[in-house]
Amino acid sequence: MDSVLTLLLALLAPALAAFLVWWLVFETEGVYLGRRAVIALYDLYANRYDRIKQFDERADLMLVALPLLDRLAPQTDPLILDVATGTGRLPLLMARVARFQGHVIGIDASRRMLHKAREKVRRECFEPFVTLLRHDASALPFPDRSFNVVTCIEALEFMPDPKQTLAEMTRVLRPGGLLLATIRIDTRWMPNRTWSEARMRLELEALGLRDVDVMIWQDDYSQVWAFKKSVQPQTSGNLH
Ligand SMILES: C[S@@+](CC[C@H](N)C(=O)[O-])C[C@H]1O[C@@H](n2cnc3c(N)ncnc32)[C@H](O)[C@@H]1O
Repeated sequence: MDSVLTLLLALLAPALAAFLVWWLVFETEGVYLGRRAVIALYDLYANRYDRIKQFDERADLMLVALPLLDRLAPQTDPLILDVATGTGRLPLLMARVARFQGHVIGIDASRRMLHKAREKVRRECFEPFVTLLRHDASALPFPDRSFNVVTCIEALEFMPDPKQTLAEMTRVLRPGGLLLATIRIDTRWMPNRTWSEARMRLELEALGLRDVDVMIWQDDYSQVWAFKKSVQPQTSGNLH
């Protein structure tokens, strides 16, 4: 009996170890191993990231860039911060829209993801529209109320403290400014790392955002749009 058990364990242990490595490294992209692991893995994937993701540029234009500009209309020259910009998906998307006359600052903690983004920005001569900066998302290096729009696409679930990142995104947003974030829908393999729609609404409202609008976007992500409340003018004295 003992030898059967030993044999079973000997057979199962490598399979279990392989599953654990697959889950920690590939399926959840290092998120349970801490911030350094996440960034190291993105550095490692950077050359393959665009090939793996196969973004549908037309869909991104129709479902991200144009809705963003429509929500800002008539303004066409917003200052946008894209948090966890990766290989520059959002900055490039905006810069390709003819009516966009603003500027996007993309920040990311992965040196190699940013290197890929820089190559693409240079190739398309988009330097007047895009600035890229290596920085962590948990403490944004900008003063309060700096941006008309703050975005964070397919990335909140990778942050060590998503609440802190959202608070930072809101801090640097101007009153009346637009926030776009995403919620990962498929949570089977990522327990406790993603938020439900209800939780996201609560977190955003607690931060002083209004008109929270959640829309199913891709198979695995919903978009969340919201506006930062404008500062209410002080009413002085009694009105007669
Ligand atoms: C799935 S990618 C999304 C990239 C891009 N937003 C897109 O839609 O293609 C997640 C990105 O988050 C970045 N990231 C993860 N943790 C970060 C952190 N703490 N600070 C800044 N960037 C981070 C990674 O380097 C990676 O580029």
